[in-house]
Amino acid sequence: MNQIPNSLAARDIAHVLHPYTNLVRHEQAGPLVITHGKGIHVYDDQGRAYIEGMAGLWCAGLGFDEPELVEAAIKQMRKLPFYHTFGHKSAEPVIELAEKLKSLAPVPISKVFFVNSGSEANDTQIKFIRYYNNALGRTKKKTILSRQRAYHGVTIAAASLTGLPANHRAFDLPIAGIEHVDCPHYYRNALPGESEAEFTARLAANLDAFIERAGPDSVAAFFAEPVMGAGGVIVPPEGYFPAIQAVLRKHDVLAIADEVICGFGRTGSVWGSQTLDFKPDAISCAKQLSSAYLPIAACLISEPIYEAIRDQSGTIGTFGHGFTYGGHPVPAAVALRTLQIYEERDIYGHVARVAPHFQRRLRKLGDHPLVGEARGVGLVGAVELVADKASRKSFDPALGVANMCAGFSQEEGLIHRALAGDALAFCPPMIITEAEIDEMFDHFERALARTQDWLVKSAA
Ligand SMILES: Cc1ncc(COP(=O)(O)O)c(C=O)c1O
Repeated sequence: MNQIPNSLAARDIAHVLHPYTNLVRHEQAGPLVITHGKGIHVYDDQGRAYIEGMAGLWCAGLGFDEPELVEAAIKQMRKLPFYHTFGHKSAEPVIELAEKLKSLAPVPISKVFFVNSGSEANDTQIKFIRYYNNALGRTKKKTILSRQRAYHGVTIAAASLTGLPANHRAFDLPIAGIEHVDCPHYYRNALPGESEAEFTARLAANLDAFIERAGPDSVAAFFAEPVMGAGGVIVPPEGYFPAIQAVLRKHDVLAIADEVICGFGRTGSVWGSQTLDFKPDAISCAKQLSSAYLPIAACLISEPIYEAIRDQSGTIGTFGHGFTYGGHPVPAAVALRTLQIYEERDIYGHVARVAPHFQRRLRKLGDHPLVGEARGVGLVGAVELVADKASRKSFDPALGVANMCAGFSQEEGLIHRALAGDALAFCPPMIITEAEIDEMFDHFERALARTQDWLVKSAA
């Protein structure tokens, strides 16, 4: 350990266990301690400024110093700092937020169930689906489909939905009853000479064959992020969701949209489902719901799902599910104010206006010799680094090229994420301006140049 004794960094190493961190390396490297934020920037304890190119964890849509959200929290704290929604109880911000979410929803929604995180939302959806099919007497219809490279969270069931090796390895996951189907990544998974339309048709046919093999009476639901986030920012090919949903409808399989990243403006529409022509039966949302200022997430469900759950709870005597803090009035008040601000300041329109510039700068990176693909939609994107552009050959994962590049970015004043498959993601706060987009990509271009130098030197 090379930290000054008793510094924040040394105390962190001694006491904090970090998620998504190489814990061996952390004992040497220590943390980056962030002390405050302003707009799209955060500042470390040495006073250095960084553009937060990931809006934290794809979530701080309004940036890092929105006073109105602080006010909303204080006001609600003073009035009613805690209450819950168990056993017929409720509170005004929760009711108003449910109404607001229903009015925004991209498909007709019957009820909103509040939880604390995206993982809890997806776990809860699985429990809803079990309860729903049991209520309908379809006791075998339980298998849940997800996709390779999906990210749906980390609780036992949500991590099982997630289709990334690091979330399964050594955790004894996935659990039984969750299956992973094709990832819709054209660049990596299309066959030689296959058009996007042919790729989509093949994935839909594969899904159909999978459900036929499993038996349609055993397959309950299909989970999908409209745009895959942590799996590498993968935008599905044209016509993907309509083709997939035709198969799901044929076999009476529910579609669940995981809007945890895409929801509330990220892709250029309020919902990713709207951008990608996805018409789900239920929606999980979180993150930008409160601009991440307080933890809150929600499950939005259709009338048929609600009716079955309602009737089953009547038979059993209670709906035996719920979290102490699900429907907490303080995060609900902050989320409500967040959704109002998105509309009052036309944040959705702002994203639609600056996204073309963001995408132009992003796509330009595709000309760099290290970049195999530059992809994205709205204000989210990624570049995939490759060892050989022509053959699309990946780097040896042991080299950690994307991690090295993200380290250079950080030194240049940009925080963003290296994802599996040597992808580097960009998902800045939605308030970012065109000038700030330029500054962000300028930092990244310097980091990319340093990565290239480092690769040349390590090969020598
Ligand atoms: C699409 C998606 N679903 C679910 C989750 C899990 O959310 P949480 O970390 O709040 O449990 C995430 C987190 O990044 C996500 O990106």
